[in-house]
Amino acid sequence: MQRPFALALLLSLPALSAPAAFADDGVAERLAACAACHGKQGEGIRGAEYYPHLAGKPAGYLFEQLKGFRDGRRVNAQMSWLVQFADDAWLREIADYYAAMPPRSHAADTGAEQLTPERRERAERLVREGDPARNVPACSACHGADLAGLEPGIPATVGLPADYIVAQFGHWRNGTRRALEPDCMHEVAKAIAPEDIRAIATWLSQQSNPEGTHPAPAGRFEPPSSCGAITAEGVR
Ligand code: HEC
Ligand code: HEC
Repeated sequence: MQRPFALALLLSLPALSAPAAFADDGVAERLAACAACHGKQGEGIRGAEYYPHLAGKPAGYLFEQLKGFRDGRRVNAQMSWLVQFADDAWLREIADYYAAMPPRSHAADTGAEQLTPERRERAERLVREGDPARNVPACSACHGADLAGLEPGIPATVGLPADYIVAQFGHWRNGTRRALEPDCMHEVAKAIAPEDIRAIATWLSQQSNPEGTHPAPAGRFEPPSSCGAITAEGVR
């Protein structure tokens, strides 16, 4: 087990001091191991059934997720192992690196199952209007009308594989993915009917971001409730 351990250590060491002009190249090199699952520029792997893309997501969001894996607020054996020794400064560098990449523009392309017209319509209505009967706000109220996200803490919901989205809803519901309080997605995931989650995830996985729209700047619109991921100092 010596080699994997050495890899984890290498990935988590602070960058060696290099001339400023080469600093970027150093980061790319040290993140080469991430490409196998997240794509060379964090754009995701075409056809991958599960791995999320990282490119163009808000830096504050990515930083929180990396800390989450390290500190146990988010559970995934592979990810937690990779960042277990990383300090905040290095995790911020990683977050900045992927946030600066062009946002993923294509749909998840996982050959996701087709939805019946009724389920497709219901999924889109839940995303755009929410479910007032269950007190669920529209996804677009927080993730943006174009679903491209909002700085500093809300990521795009397009371009993600359906299985990944379904799994995250499971994690939020059972507490193995926790964001800073108030944890909006925990509330949303608890309130949505289980039979609607798969339809929403499938519908979202079929959406793209053809213009490569970036997350809206902080304050561009006001989410219906305050989320820790938006207001916390640490998110920046
Ligand atoms: C062996 C495959 C694998 C490798 C290598 C890998 N990851 Fe991941 N990564 C995953 C999986 C799987 C998830 C989703 C985990 C979950 O279900 O919560 C993930 C999730 C993430 C997330 C959260 C994304 C989001 O949208 O919330 C970030 C950030 C991340 N990885 C960064 C990295 C970085 C940086 C590296 C390299 C140091 C890396 N990953 C290497 C498999 C991998
Ligand atoms: C009140 C605001 C709010 C609403 C409404 C909301 N979200 Fe979120 N969403 C967030 C925040 C904040 C995060 C970041 C959570 C974190 O830091 O882990 C997030 C994260 C996500 C992610 C994680 C993306 C990734 O890359 O891992 C998905 C998927 C998601 N939301 C889907 C949805 C869907 C689907 C709906 C509607 C059913 C919805 N959200 C409604 C605030 C919201």
